[in-house]
Amino acid sequence: MNNLVVLGATSAIAEQVARLYAKPDQHILLVARNQDGLNVISKDLLVRGAGKVDTLTYDFSNLDSIQSLVDSIAGKMDKIDILFVAYGTLPNQQACEKYVEQVQSEINLNFVSIVSVITGLSPLMVQKGAGTIAVVTSVAGDRGRKSNYINGTVKGALTVYLQGLRNSLFAKGVHVLTIKPGFVDTPMTVDFKKGLLWAKPEKIAKDIVNAITRKKDVIYTPWFWRWIMLIIKLIPERIFKKMNL
Ligand SMILES: NC(=O)c1ccc[n+]([C@@H]2O[C@H](COP(=O)([O-])OP(=O)(O)OC[C@H]3O[C@@H](n4cnc5c(N)ncnc54)[C@H](OP(=O)(O)O)[C@@H]3O)[C@@H](O)[C@H]2O)c1
Repeated sequence: MNNLVVLGATSAIAEQVARLYAKPDQHILLVARNQDGLNVISKDLLVRGAGKVDTLTYDFSNLDSIQSLVDSIAGKMDKIDILFVAYGTLPNQQACEKYVEQVQSEINLNFVSIVSVITGLSPLMVQKGAGTIAVVTSVAGDRGRKSNYINGTVKGALTVYLQGLRNSLFAKGVHVLTIKPGFVDTPMTVDFKKGLLWAKPEKIAKDIVNAITRKKDVIYTPWFWRWIMLIIKLIPERIFKKMNL
């Protein structure tokens, strides 16, 4: 059986990715903080044809028990073929500029916990000399902007971490995929006005699964964000700082 671990399995993007892996040869381990949500997704994946589905509840704002989560995952699977990391929040920029606790908890959840759990799980993959670690970051990490630079910071830090990890694990047979979505219509962005640049989680999931299969290093999804971000990155800082982005 192929083993897939999904961290943040109740995310709209993760749910669509898991559906694409719902095949008889797949053992899917769903990890999220909401057991009711996990039960619903688990049943749905079995109906769709997944070979075996397990669940674990974990709140990733709890940094102290990540090693025991790692041990529980290792107890359920003898190997990990795909580790998919999708959980996260969209930090409230204004609150993060005002409150020390707020900014710390956003950085802890969206960066420190992810690095910690990958640090715990990646040796299991290195031991087998195979597998893919696929992590959702964001186009927001490509350049800091005044409207959301705490989100940009955690996603940018994660992107740099994944670059190094890919470079380190390549020779050990483990592949690392960095996923940079643009605007996606999910519960995270429910209050945003939608327009032409917006994509559905189903589309993002297809791009992710395709990139895992083809062992891509970095993807922008949908593809046009690569060019949008290229233009944004090329704007000189002395002009950029005067812009209202
Ligand atoms: N939507 C976009 O436009 C967009 C763009 C770029 C990148 N992304 C990234 O895509 C990823 C998936 O987000 P999404 O768009 O699919 O939104 P979503 O459906 O709101 O998913 C976010 C997930 O994170 C989980 N989560 C939040 N805090 C958690 C915690 N303390 N412990 C465990 N799980 C926690 C949520 O769990 P609950 O269900 O329990 O709340 C939920 O499953 C995130 O990393 C996000 O930053 C999204």
